[in-house]
Amino acid sequence: MTTTPAAPATTLPAERGSCPFAPPPAYDDARRTEPVKRMSLWNGEPCWLVTGYEENRIVLQDRRFSADARNAGFPFLSPGRRQLLTKAQPSFLRLDDPEHARLRRMLTGDFIVKRAQAQQPQVQAIVDDVLDRMLAKGEPADLVRDFALPVPSRVICLLLGVPYADHEFFERTSSVLVDLTTPPDQVKQAQGEIRAYLDELVEAKRRHPDDTLLGKLVARGELSQTECAAMALVLLVAGHETTANMISFGMLALLRNPEQAALLRAEPERIGSAIEELLRYLSVVHFGLPRTTLEDVELGGQLIRAGEGVLCMISAANRDESLFTDPERFDITRDSRRHLAFGFGVHQCVGQPLARVELRSALGTLLRRLPDLRLAVPDDQLEYRTDKAVYGVREMPVLW
Ligand code: HEM
Repeated sequence: MTTTPAAPATTLPAERGSCPFAPPPAYDDARRTEPVKRMSLWNGEPCWLVTGYEENRIVLQDRRFSADARNAGFPFLSPGRRQLLTKAQPSFLRLDDPEHARLRRMLTGDFIVKRAQAQQPQVQAIVDDVLDRMLAKGEPADLVRDFALPVPSRVICLLLGVPYADHEFFERTSSVLVDLTTPPDQVKQAQGEIRAYLDELVEAKRRHPDDTLLGKLVARGELSQTECAAMALVLLVAGHETTANMISFGMLALLRNPEQAALLRAEPERIGSAIEELLRYLSVVHFGLPRTTLEDVELGGQLIRAGEGVLCMISAANRDESLFTDPERFDITRDSRRHLAFGFGVHQCVGQPLARVELRSALGTLLRRLPDLRLAVPDDQLEYRTDKAVYGVREMPVLW
């Protein structure tokens, strides 16, 4: 075991190598040589980069690692992130048990696999309608703006009971919140605006109860107004940015691997395993899941002191050769089910059954209805979301 070095070793690498689907090469190097590696954040604070698959699983299920952003040493990815996570009612994503469990329990009934599968016809109707509108507008379309974003946005609005007419407002606000370059004062403003909007919505549900998720949460009477609004916010943001980027970036991966797209078109029953492979291969939550140690912990031959930050780089873990043979290869026939794209442990994504239904429907429909879907610009003109907490392609002009 080595002892903690006096000076931090690196800063957080964001630049990708030649393949836009692969995490920055520095993470692969770290996983091979030092799967738990000390580095420093933008503010000079020390932090541990965890890149190995097993090491990630250990951190994510070990109660000695806390997800509570109010702990000293919590690894904020930017000044705006610190504002976002500390200056408001924390969502259960950034709380530990038992508080986390109490809040998460309120949702699990609505997010079980059976429930998500029952929502499949509604999701499919949304997918078809959004696609019809895109086709009606004519070529070229931006697959991000005209398809990938509206699908999960409409689904989460329907589920929560948020008026879709307000989508431009909350899409813009969430995009400001997930942008790591947003200065703290702008995060504060966006936070204030969306909280005021959701407070009003919660109040409206209290006056006129309905059977949407938010309506039911309010009616249960177990959560305060602020807790209900915080719950709505985390679902709204987590529920559409991640899925939207998986849809557009996932379609890009299929266009860049035409033999895999052809196999999926020929054998559509492979869609389930194709989605798992896309989740592994793309790992859109790419800057790491943040935790802090509550006591000294030995991990991967390193001593992590109590109160030090840890970033679980699930994108690097999903490329770990010890678990995935030839991990750089995108292969929809492989068994990718043990990927960590939805996290692991008590915070593992509560929305994953719904996300899977949305991804199957959105990508399956694009493949089926648009057999000639292709990029309208050369590959090298595409730009990627290196500055956002959720990775993907910024715009994706397409023809069909
Ligand atoms: C493909 C799409 C998605 C991906 C890749 C994804 C990824 C993740 C990851 C990695 C976490 C764990 C965070 C951590 O441990 O720090 C998480 C948690 C969470 N996700 Fe997702 N997510 C997706 C879709 C959704 C959807 C559709 C919803 C809701 C409708 C949602 C709601 C949440 C919530 C509420 C949490 C916090 C769970 C907890 O702390 O107990 N996600 N997600």
